[in-house]
Amino acid sequence: MNARVRQEFERIHGHAPEGLWAAPGRINLIGEHTDYNDGFALPMALPQTAVLAARRRADGLLRLHSAQGDGRVTELRVADLAPGAVPGWARYPAGVVWALRERGLPVGGADLHVDSAVPAGAGLSSSAALECAVAVAYEELYGLGLGRPELARVAQYAENAFAGVPCGVMDQMASVCCAEGSALHLDSRSLEVRQVPFDLAGHGLRLLVLDTRVKHDLADGAYAALRAGCERAARLLGLPALRDLGEAELPGALGRLPAGLVPLVRHVVTENARVTRAVDSLTAGEPEALGPLLTEGHASLRDDYGVSCPETDLAVEAANAAGALGARMTGGGFGGSVIALVPAAATADITTAVTTAFTQAGFHPPTPLEATPSQGATRLA
Ligand code: GLA
Repeated sequence: MNARVRQEFERIHGHAPEGLWAAPGRINLIGEHTDYNDGFALPMALPQTAVLAARRRADGLLRLHSAQGDGRVTELRVADLAPGAVPGWARYPAGVVWALRERGLPVGGADLHVDSAVPAGAGLSSSAALECAVAVAYEELYGLGLGRPELARVAQYAENAFAGVPCGVMDQMASVCCAEGSALHLDSRSLEVRQVPFDLAGHGLRLLVLDTRVKHDLADGAYAALRAGCERAARLLGLPALRDLGEAELPGALGRLPAGLVPLVRHVVTENARVTRAVDSLTAGEPEALGPLLTEGHASLRDDYGVSCPETDLAVEAANAAGALGARMTGGGFGGSVIALVPAAATADITTAVTTAFTQAGFHPPTPLEATPSQGATRLA
């Protein structure tokens, strides 16, 4: 992959790159729709990364090329970058450069070529991988002195304000901060992180990712509406964010909310508590105890938060019926991927069972991949 990315860069841009960087996609083990409520999450990096070759330019141009694009080079003037002005995949890398300049940082142009193995549209944060690869490359090339959490904030700002997606910070934090062999206990308010060892192989377990290849159109508007609902609930309760509501105070708080906000708040509060329980299980060396938490989290996303869909529900049901320890949708929802914690020996049977259930339901069979906790963004060469 590295040699190919370097060669392609030279073919397209006519000179050698100054370096190669990689940033991964992620799955989230538990803690869904909690990040924009200042809450907790437990993502881990996938082995699949976006690999970026880059070289600074002195003329203020940003020249972007993607192995997954249409073959054309997108040429932009850094000084003219503005939200909404760049369409397609190029808005993610361009947004990061724009966001760095918005912070008053002295960044200029660059030649970039990216080749990503993170499946797009699968809920595995392919856009965050792309943003974070550019963020770490620019950090080094332009000597910005930004720490990893600051780079994640820059990438999130690019996605929010430049690409117009009102996401939280989890995907970008996972992509820049994860460590091999660990899940990342993230506090989305302080951006404090703790690496929690997650030894699947040592416990005879595997983590199966089933990409349903479904992406429902309502995703963007629905995500923004859910986020707005949570923020409104926090205001009504007189709290800075729903993170500040504990499980013990939940029954009293729910009684003070309009009926429409009750299930949202119940999901966020119980989900934050599930993150704590999951971290405790991993810390105690009992990863199999994650299983029931995954399935509970899925029920909460399905019944209270309303972000699952028939395909993700069926994948969870079929995986569990075939012997998974637990399963849930991962990411924003409305399609995307399901993760299942499975006994290693049962991986093939569980995959087959889900495929059969999908075929019987008239759905396209999901694409399986195996997730191992991998390292966050890094320089390759
Ligand atoms: C998407 C967003 C994240 C997070 C998840 C839901 O992946 O990009 O910030 O809100 O949805 O947990």
